[in-house]
Amino acid sequence: MSFQQAAARAGANIALVKYWGKRDQRLNLPAAGSISITLAGLETRTTVTPDPVLGADEFLLDGVEQPPGRVGAVLDLIRERAGETAACRVESRNNFPTGAGLASSASGFAALAVAASRAFGLELSDSELSGLARRGSGSAARSIFGGFVEMDAGTLDSGADAVAHRLLPAEDWPLEVVVAITDSGSKAVGSRDGMNHTMRTSPYYPAWVETVADDLDAARSAIASRDFEMLAQTAEHSALKMHASMLAARPGLVYWNPATLACLHAVRALRSAGTGVFFTIDAGPQVKAVCLPGESERVAALLGEQPGVHDVLVTGLGAGAAQVPAR
Ligand code: DP6
Repeated sequence: MSFQQAAARAGANIALVKYWGKRDQRLNLPAAGSISITLAGLETRTTVTPDPVLGADEFLLDGVEQPPGRVGAVLDLIRERAGETAACRVESRNNFPTGAGLASSASGFAALAVAASRAFGLELSDSELSGLARRGSGSAARSIFGGFVEMDAGTLDSGADAVAHRLLPAEDWPLEVVVAITDSGSKAVGSRDGMNHTMRTSPYYPAWVETVADDLDAARSAIASRDFEMLAQTAEHSALKMHASMLAARPGLVYWNPATLACLHAVRALRSAGTGVFFTIDAGPQVKAVCLPGESERVAALLGEQPGVHDVLVTGLGAGAAQVPAR
């Protein structure tokens, strides 16, 4: 038996080309690829303590006991690989509101994959960690890496090639990110249920999946050539097209509130006036504004003034998931 307490941190990420829909539910394989940026300031810290005396896994999120659910499922995969059976106590803390469309599952499962694999003595490659994190949440596969990251849909039935890789380190294009919080409660319909509902009922879903490849090509080349305007147009198109697919579901999913829309228009007005900024919106009401270096202060001031905006967070691009000393 070889196990010990281990801890890890991982940053949240926001997709510029969105992941919305799966090709396999059991292995959690995405229907298409996606491209994201990993954030510096929004992170999860997770400590995994294997304890053979425990009868079952225990999971605490921000100090509150939760059913182990998908956390237990990822632990099972890691235990199986390590040939171990000990149940674990998992303590996870986010430094941002959980469940409000700020991708807490992405940083959470990336931190869990790193901490739990170290706790059971496994030395896994980033690619293997990405595959494990994906089993918890598709977007988590991307948070293993820092900076600009691409997730591959893969073609293998096993899912072995459905992993992320880094496109560009954060320091090579240090974009800034402003998050406008328009609602700090938990979202009504989580990403997983929302995407499955869209797949089942939206006539726009096939068109969404068919057009992701073009957006990936455009975003990849915009990132390689640091073409902000091309990235802005591609990312806004991907976000709006994803929301169009949800709006066309039955019943339609409407994640936006009036403040979401006010921020979207404010960002577009700023860009028309020459500020390097674009918006993206996930399965929730918050607006994330991605800006050229040096522009975040002006963008944060404007978004903070929009009616219904409760709070504004400013951050930059950050590193991938990593083990940290257990406290
Ligand atoms: C809108 O990764 O939460 O944030 O794989 O079912 O856990 P599951 O879904 P999840 O979905 C994220 C959806 C999104 C877009 C994105 O991050 O690419």
